Amino acid sequence: MASIRNIVILTGAGISAESGVATFRGPDGLWEGHRVEDVCTPEAIARDPGLVHQFYDMRRAKLGEVQPNPAHHALAKLDAEWRGELLIVTQNVDDLHERAGARRTLHMHGELLSALCARCGARRPWREAMPPGQACGACGMEALRPDIVFFGEVPYRMDEIEVALAQADLFVSIGTSGAVYPAAGFVQLANHYGAQTLELNLEPSEGSHWFDESRMGPAGVLVPAWVDEVLAG
Ligand code: APR
Repeated sequence: MASIRNIVILTGAGISAESGVATFRGPDGLWEGHRVEDVCTPEAIARDPGLVHQFYDMRRAKLGEVQPNPAHHALAKLDAEWRGELLIVTQNVDDLHERAGARRTLHMHGELLSALCARCGARRPWREAMPPGQACGACGMEALRPDIVFFGEVPYRMDEIEVALAQADLFVSIGTSGAVYPAAGFVQLANHYGAQTLELNLEPSEGSHWFDESRMGPAGVLVPAWVDEVLAG
């Protein structure tokens, strides 16, 4: 670990599973009852805005019932104590990394607690239910939607993520199935740029073979142990 200075971490739904947030592709996956293409595409929100808004209202309300778990707390501790560069890229739209105290986070798939104007692109904090037709405070159009990156849209801050991956000494993927690009390709980019790569997941993911090392188990156990290892040098 002595040569490690720059760390990039990618988190997915698996890190929030022990907090009670359903994952997407597990047996109790969030999409049961809702096909992903019904709720998570630009076409879906154009066709049935009520359904899409209701779906994200439900997920936003659920945030009030869940708490960060030991994996989120361990990453917050790493953030507080790690003197080198660190970027926690999350695919999750919950706020559990921040509520645990992590600061160096990047939400590449957007955030439940944010609203996006579909007309002018303005974003603003949003905590309540969001009925369709809410007016944007910036341009006045009735075009606010959940600030979520839908399938077919470009994730946020990709330039920043690629720079961080190019400079990383260590890339760690936590609780993600490796089924959704571009995040699923970060391990290959990190490999390309010469970083060590480590996967912490409940079970082998679609991309496990790309990692130098894979550890299987619950994030609430694996992540605190790994953070202690890294901080001990
Ligand atoms: N600890 C560690 N890993 C876990 C745990 C746990 N307690 N529980 C589940 N996992 C693992 C699962 O084995 C699975 O590999 O977390 C992974 C979750 O995978 P997905 O449900 O596919 O979630 P994710 O990879 O974050 O999905 C990526 O897909 O639908 C889109 O935009 C959505 O951001 C999401 C993206």
